[in-house]
Amino acid sequence: MATLTLPALIDIHVHLRDPGATHKEDFATGTAAALAGGVVAVLDMPNNTPPTTDEAALRRKGELASTKARCDFGFYLGATVGNAGQSVGIHEVAGLKMYLNETYGPLQLEALSTVMAHFRHWPRGKPIAAHAEQLSTAVVIGLAQLYGRSAHICHVSRKAEIELIRHAKANGAKITCEVTPHHLFLTEQYAERVGGFGHVKPALGTPEDREALWANLDIVDAVASDHAPHTIEEKESETPPPGVPGLETTLPLLLNAVAEGRLSVERLVELTHHGPARVMGVRPPEESYVEVDPDARHLLHGADLLTKCRWTPFEGMRVQGLVRSVYLRGTRVYEDGEVLAPPGSGRSLVLS
Ligand code: NCD
Ligand code: ZN
Ligand code: ZN
Ligand code: ZN
Repeated sequence: MATLTLPALIDIHVHLRDPGATHKEDFATGTAAALAGGVVAVLDMPNNTPPTTDEAALRRKGELASTKARCDFGFYLGATVGNAGQSVGIHEVAGLKMYLNETYGPLQLEALSTVMAHFRHWPRGKPIAAHAEQLSTAVVIGLAQLYGRSAHICHVSRKAEIELIRHAKANGAKITCEVTPHHLFLTEQYAERVGGFGHVKPALGTPEDREALWANLDIVDAVASDHAPHTIEEKESETPPPGVPGLETTLPLLLNAVAEGRLSVERLVELTHHGPARVMGVRPPEESYVEVDPDARHLLHGADLLTKCRWTPFEGMRVQGLVRSVYLRGTRVYEDGEVLAPPGSGRSLVLS
């Protein structure tokens, strides 16, 4: 059996739901899922209940993660109408998250003046990440240019968006972007078949959108899971919330793409390790790596997953490439289906 050793993954976009919705996920289960997926560091999004939009909420999250997380962690501050320029002990925050379109949670910004205030006040050395679909993509690129700073565009999903980002980068804009596995491997046809389980923001695209993401993968900075767990019951309801889990399936899916000749191992490492660290100013934990069996074929099954929600949009998909062992700071933290790291062993990430 061949073993391939890769630098451990850094996932810069996850929703671990702690505090506020721990029936969907919490820091202990979400970081167990992370380790099972070869991910040793996560950046957690601010759309909690209550949202992570001030110093007290950040401190509370820090306390919860310190006692519960099994891998390393950092947090985003959510941008609100009132918190531009407010001091929040900013050295502990990985970045500012701005929601410019409707999605799960109450954090969508409406007024141009609010968005401008955040671009003006947020420290230049710290990333601004944006949920920006369609026209909002152009807004973020334009404001980043005007304010002479960088900006990161989350979960790019449409052909026009990735082409615009390509154009912006070629013209010197300090724009970075991420794509998700669900936008790389699924389309709206899947969403039509599975109803609420395929409901995600941004919505799954057309086959043409999906192929455009692959065709422009050379200008993509990171693959991020946008791990957004909701329960099976919630997804089967009349009003399913948007979001799909993904921490455990990113690496098998990308390894399968390597096996199919659609991606090189070097590019996989760039998209899951070096790129995310660079974009978000994260120092990767030392001696942290994943041993995978690139030849092992297996089926993806929600029931096998460690995420609390225990389903996957990739149910039944046959992939080649299996995570065997994961090491975090020299310690084996996962082996063959079993998480070895206890809650509380994860650390706060070192941020630039
Ligand atoms: C995310 C969630 O559930 O928190 N949902 C989603 O569909 N992606 C929110 C988000 O990332 O926009
Ligand atoms: Zn989003
Ligand atoms: Zn998200
Ligand atoms: Zn690199």
